[in-house]
Amino acid sequence: VTLDSGLDLHVELSPTRPARSLESRLRNAIVDGRLPRGTRLPPARSLAADLAISRNTVAAVYAQLNAEGWLQSRVGAGTWVSDLAAEHRQAQPPSTRATSRQSIDLRGGIPDPSGFPRRDWLAAVRAATLGAGTSELGYPDPAGTAKLRAAVSSYVARTRGVAARPDSVVVGQGFGELLALVCRALVARGARRVAVEEYGHSTHRRVVAAAGLKLVPITVDDDGADVEQLESLSVDAVLLTPAHQFPLGTPLSARRRRQLTSWADRNVAWILEDDYDGEFRYDRRAIGALQALAPDRVIYVGTASKAVAPSAGLGWAVPPAAILPDILEQRELAGGQPAALHQLALAALIDAHGYDRSVRRLRSLYRSRRTRLENCVASQLPDCELTGLSAGLQCILRLPPDTNEKHIERSAAERGLRLEGLAAFRVPGVTGSAPPAVVIGYGGPTPGQFDTALAILVECVREAIVTQHQGGRIDGSV
Ligand SMILES: Cc1ncc(COP(=O)(O)O)c(C=O)c1O
Repeated sequence: VTLDSGLDLHVELSPTRPARSLESRLRNAIVDGRLPRGTRLPPARSLAADLAISRNTVAAVYAQLNAEGWLQSRVGAGTWVSDLAAEHRQAQPPSTRATSRQSIDLRGGIPDPSGFPRRDWLAAVRAATLGAGTSELGYPDPAGTAKLRAAVSSYVARTRGVAARPDSVVVGQGFGELLALVCRALVARGARRVAVEEYGHSTHRRVVAAAGLKLVPITVDDDGADVEQLESLSVDAVLLTPAHQFPLGTPLSARRRRQLTSWADRNVAWILEDDYDGEFRYDRRAIGALQALAPDRVIYVGTASKAVAPSAGLGWAVPPAAILPDILEQRELAGGQPAALHQLALAALIDAHGYDRSVRRLRSLYRSRRTRLENCVASQLPDCELTGLSAGLQCILRLPPDTNEKHIERSAAERGLRLEGLAAFRVPGVTGSAPPAVVIGYGGPTPGQFDTALAILVECVREAIVTQHQGGRIDGSV
């Protein structure tokens, strides 16, 4: 039926008991909020006509709901939904989810959601919508809209030293989706085995495996991934985070970069460069993208998740020309692509320098958090050490030997803090010494949550250290 406000309401009546069913349908719609307070209902006569029932039946239902307080009516003013339902909903006890302490995210790689550049994004959406030609409102090129490919190619060339042209860029829904497309393209070309860093993003490893590729771990040390191991592993490709190893935070050394590109050239193998936070370096020693050293062998991938927001859902790949058509083939087989209007908005944001502004603002926010974290550890957790470059959104808190990472994860969770031990990032089944540590994603909390996050962290780490010491004494005395 169409309400007076012009809204449609779906009402299904029982043919044998139209009055009972109309009454319960309307009551339910009011109680669950589908008919919000103040909604005007049609006059009994027109609702009766819509539903092919008698006017008296509708009038009796309205009278009943009026008597119960769900509806209000006045002669001359009609019938509308009263405030009762809204009050009724507010009086319900909130679910345990809402009452439980709001959780604070200190997991690695998560950006502060409140850092989203709302005003600049809004201006970009407006400019993109007004500026879109009619042809841009149809299906976009599978590689992405021309405007975004042009904006990205000059952005990554300028800020990361990537060798890119507009027609070498493929737009995707972020790193994860582009990784899936690239892996499927590799499989279609006959690839079987991909090396991954021993520590990394577990979801990305699952994406690689889901494409049908076997994962082969390589170790990571203070110079980044030990790429010399690739020589004996007969892999078709390697997935790496060269600027800032995730989550350990070391850069791939210059010597290893040369070894790596030489291996790829000699073996006609592919390097997947995950440049997830390359713009966020705080010590003025930014290292350019690896891709520039071997543009024919490196598939470079970047993301807008850190500088805009994960909800922007956009990223870009710059693959060598030899594999680009295979990736586009997989894009078509995936059956869709990121919304063109959204791509145009990101292009407008980059063109108006709103993207650079956001990077600069977030860089200074994350740099100051990093300093506060360092000061906090130095003064309050003297038995621990922070490691990892002064870059990105996460670093590693090294714990005294035998401290239980899981204990810290659990007690943090009980206090509403989401935090992961380093073991959670390791390829399952890999052995070898792994001193205890937790990953601190200082990007995740909002500004108002950051001090609380540090306080909870200190409490949980101290508690785990004390528990471990007590455990040691008890064990020793038995
Ligand atoms: C290692 C790594 N790569 C890439 C990304 C970005 O992924 P996406 O673009 O899918 O948000 C993240 C974000 O957490 C990450 O930690």
